[in-house]
Amino acid sequence: MSAIIAVIGLVSGVFQSINTPESWMAPPHVSSTKVRVYSGMSGSTSESTSGNIPGVALWDAAGGFIGKAMGVYNYVIDDGKFHDLEVKGKKASAEYLSVSAFGTDGLCVAAVAVTSPTGYKAGWFGDIGRKCGAPWYPSNLVIPGSDPEARPACVWIDQDGSNNHPYTGLTIHLPSFTRAGLAQEYNDNIDTLCRSLPRFSMWTTRSVHMTLPVYYADRLEFNEDGSDKNLSAILDPQMMQSETTAPNDPTGTALGVADGPSALDLAPVAQLAPSRRRTRRQSQISRPRPQPLQNQLVVSNVSSHSARELCGSRTSAGPDFVSLGEGLFCDMARKVLWPVCSEEVTAACFDLGGRGLRVVGGAQHSETDPEGWLELRVRSEDGGSRLKSYRNVQRWS
Ligand SMILES: *[C@@H]1O[C@H](CO)[C@@H](O)[C@H](O)[C@H]1NC(C)=O
Ligand SMILES: *[C@@H]1O[C@H](CO)[C@@H](O)[C@H](O)[C@H]1NC(C)=O
Repeated sequence: MSAIIAVIGLVSGVFQSINTPESWMAPPHVSSTKVRVYSGMSGSTSESTSGNIPGVALWDAAGGFIGKAMGVYNYVIDDGKFHDLEVKGKKASAEYLSVSAFGTDGLCVAAVAVTSPTGYKAGWFGDIGRKCGAPWYPSNLVIPGSDPEARPACVWIDQDGSNNHPYTGLTIHLPSFTRAGLAQEYNDNIDTLCRSLPRFSMWTTRSVHMTLPVYYADRLEFNEDGSDKNLSAILDPQMMQSETTAPNDPTGTALGVADGPSALDLAPVAQLAPSRRRTRRQSQISRPRPQPLQNQLVVSNVSSHSARELCGSRTSAGPDFVSLGEGLFCDMARKVLWPVCSEEVTAACFDLGGRGLRVVGGAQHSETDPEGWLELRVRSEDGGSRLKSYRNVQRWS
């Protein structure tokens, strides 16, 4: 029987401590730490499909360096799948973790699980990053033990900003996501999650060689349920060491800018297309902005996935998205929401066709021809139409 590990995640928008069987974490190894990274989306914006495994580095509770594992170039983690990295080094419980992008292909991290040689295990979900303002996208990852319809969001990292989002990596204090009482603390005061640098931060300058901020473990106090005794203390820089030690890496002292979460304002920008009365402001908003994986389309029949929510978020990023449950299509480059065409809606809609996806125009697409482009039509109100082309259509259910 699999042991149960509590990991804080989001359920219907509320932080909860989710009891997960440890089966989604890597099995323990006698002398090294295993870091399992789950991909929500990966690949490049170019036509060739490639991708990269991120690098990871680990520290113990006191900020002592445990070890690191370099990332891997040109290796794709399939959506919803994982890759295990092995960190050889000190035999200790890893409490701090950095994950840094390798290469120019973006990776959307849906979850991370760490298994220490001491038996200590902990996990982290991309929902945390999304709530703190990181660029996000839905994922198709089912976490064992949680509601199969509640799949964590993923957050984007890449090394050079070529995917139009600024973060190269993230740092995580693992016990901050296993102490059950913290879920309510985060619900009550999101700053205790997103504005306490060691707990969780996204970084515009982060590499596997860098150190990270850690708490002075002996200065913080907890309640019985694991929540913080003093909320001011958790936000107080006096409670944090700005740098840890990375003894085998003399260049590892560059901390980079403490530029953690900044985009907590999730003001909706979605508009239902087409808008005839465009104000100046609206047309500015709808100027197309390049998105990662523009040549893909995701068609989801997962009930928790919402095109309306995705389109309404200033921080969402990724390919165009259809929610079958809502009957809505989000044009991500413009963050414009369209209804999916149906018997009732025949104009100003996105044409998925009556039975599955209908190919229009001269596209040669078939299920067995991955090179084929699929073209779909966006019908405008005046009866005209515009084609959108996708190289790849993913169906999530
Ligand atoms: C709570 O933390 C703040 C900031 O570190 C500190 O000034 C204050 O004295 C602490 N309060 C208690 C009751 O310990
Ligand atoms: C989507 O899910 C609903 C309800 O679970 C189901 O009835 C429907 O057939 C599914 N549609 C597709 C296209 O898979």
